[in-house]
Amino acid sequence: MRLHSLSLIDFPLIHRAFALAFSDYLLPMRMDEEQLAAMLHRRGWRPELSVGAWRDGALVGLWLAGVHCDEVGPIGYCIATGVTPDARRQGLLQAMAAATEQRLASRGIQRQRLEVIADNAAAMAAYLRLGFRPHRRLDCYRIEHALAVDAAPGWRCEAADLSQWPRWPLHSEPAVPNSRDSLERARPPLQLLTATRNGEVLGYALHSAAGDVAELAVATPHRRRGVARSLLAAVQRQTSAPALAVSNLDADDLAGAALLRSCGAGLWLSQWEMRRP
Ligand SMILES: CC(C)(COP(=O)(O)OP(=O)(O)OC[C@H]1O[C@@H](n2cnc3c(N)ncnc32)[C@H](O)[C@@H]1OP(=O)(O)O)[C@@H](O)C(=O)NCCC(=O)NCCS
Repeated sequence: MRLHSLSLIDFPLIHRAFALAFSDYLLPMRMDEEQLAAMLHRRGWRPELSVGAWRDGALVGLWLAGVHCDEVGPIGYCIATGVTPDARRQGLLQAMAAATEQRLASRGIQRQRLEVIADNAAAMAAYLRLGFRPHRRLDCYRIEHALAVDAAPGWRCEAADLSQWPRWPLHSEPAVPNSRDSLERARPPLQLLTATRNGEVLGYALHSAAGDVAELAVATPHRRRGVARSLLAAVQRQTSAPALAVSNLDADDLAGAALLRSCGAGLWLSQWEMRRP
């Protein structure tokens, strides 16, 4: 087995290894090269900090790393790891983790973070063994029916230019995929909807054309009046997506969870944010 950084590796090779490593994943991960590249770009991928494992000339393992910054400083973010099925349980993940750790340390980065699906027992066991510890639960919801809303609620929900994104403080620090740096890197760019009354912004939703709601916020004085629900309904109208998805809601965000439940959302997946140290 040989380990190498991914900085000079042809992207189609990385895409092929990724597709194979995730062929038996808990969720369908069918992404073409362009979609994988967009996902990696959005999450701050750094090929020179990422490590591949080769066996008999074939790329059989990937540790895809990025860098995320919080208020303390830079953090190594593990976007995804994968080992092709015939190369598992041979220590590849452990070896790639050690090489990535060295690359991060050489840039003064000691802390690391990742998310793992709560039901992914193999990955959970592997990350625990590597010294990652669960920090908080992140819940993912889906709304699969059209939301009924008051026809004349007293405010207007309409599309606004992304430059008007209010960036209000949120309930808790967003998970890395929902961080503002990641959202800004989204390609195509996310879309903004605002709820306004007499020119005052009461709330906003930031979403993708596929119906992924990346940020939803209502100003404190205007809460519990249906603003968030009407923003979600407006996202439905705007995108005609079959389902709305709200991902990585901090399990401590009781108001967010109550809103989603009141909109008939189903919890379809939970993840653990794991941190090291
Ligand atoms: C998770 C995954 C990357 C592990 O890769 P790997 O190279 O097989 O892992 P390693 O051989 O380095 O395992 C290190 C340790 O992790 C734990 N582990 C790994 N796979 C495990 C499994 N299937 N069941 C229980 N423990 C497991 C063990 O403690 C193992 O040490 P051991 O073999 O001495 O008992 C691999 O199973 C995979 O690619 N899965 C599909 C993609 C995925 O789920 N990625 C993670 C989410 S992004």
